[in-house]
Amino acid sequence: MEPSIDRIGNILVVGAGAMGSQIGMVCSLAGYNVTVQDISEEALARAWEQLRARMHRNVGKGRIEREEVEAAFGRMSFTTDLAGAAAEADFVIEAAVEKLDVKREIFARLDRTAPEHAVFATNSSTIVSSRLAGSTGRPDRVCNMHFFNPALVMKCVEVVRNPKTSDATVETTVELARRIGKEPIVLDKEIPGFVANRILGAIMDEAISLYENGVASVEDIDAACRSALGHPMGPFELMDLTGIDVACYVRMDRYRESGDPDDRPSRSIVEKFERGELGRKSGRGWYAYDEQGQKVSR
Ligand code: 3HC
Repeated sequence: MEPSIDRIGNILVVGAGAMGSQIGMVCSLAGYNVTVQDISEEALARAWEQLRARMHRNVGKGRIEREEVEAAFGRMSFTTDLAGAAAEADFVIEAAVEKLDVKREIFARLDRTAPEHAVFATNSSTIVSSRLAGSTGRPDRVCNMHFFNPALVMKCVEVVRNPKTSDATVETTVELARRIGKEPIVLDKEIPGFVANRILGAIMDEAISLYENGVASVEDIDAACRSALGHPMGPFELMDLTGIDVACYVRMDRYRESGDPDDRPSRSIVEKFERGELGRKSGRGWYAYDEQGQKVSR
């Protein structure tokens, strides 16, 4: 059965990290029934708390009505049961950890119980969907649907087709992105990193190289990007937002694929990763953060 936007009522988001939880919220705010699944009860509880706090803040600032927010939460559920959630899903957005073997396992498990018409989209920006499609019996209904951090705010969604993705899958995914208030762009050819992250990656590589070579401090490189280039935040602040673990996994994956030593994560990223300094989520990355996620110092 072909996927279609009209068949989508229930959306399953796999992974309750910063991306998965906000993607789920965006979908429920748009009127969809959303299940957020994670293997960790703790991650689900944290996601719920953070979404409550974020949405209450938005109500307090007059950005949205309280009733609208409560109705959206009423359409959301949180579970550790992947097979059960998949059985009800018309569209799946996978936002689990950036590890190929984990994602392949998730896709295989989804395929066992999800309805035939369900699309499986991965939010990954580095693992192209053709690397996951083979672990399902529905490669034509698999694609990338890549959101940006913070997903509640950033408008762009990259929809990437693999050689087997059907037109109906691309059309359904693009239309879903529009209906949840995003601005989709389509990539007709797979390339790791897609459009926005390839451009961003070049900026981050240069920023790290300037820092590691002692040219300027982290603060000053960030300041230049804000005040000279008009970026809303500097590359180091952004790495703290998106996660230093993500930056590290992305480069390790690229290195494994290419074998090119230049693709390895840089020294300072690996050091931070090994120390558990993962950015905002761990309270320290390039900068230090308080409980509310506000920057306190370096
Ligand atoms: N989650 C949800 N909403 C957030 C948020 C977060 N983590 N951080 C900020 N916001 C929203 C809030 O509504 C906030 O208002 P509030 O503080 O009154 O509640 C509003 O944005 C403004 O936030 P701030 O005043 O703290 O700061 P800014 O004006 O700088 O805006 C920003 C924050 C929207 C994050 C802006 O700095 C920005 O656009 N930064 C660049 C983000 C970016 O480049 N994202 C792409 C990253 S790459 C990626 O995601 C790819 C993936 O594969 C890793």
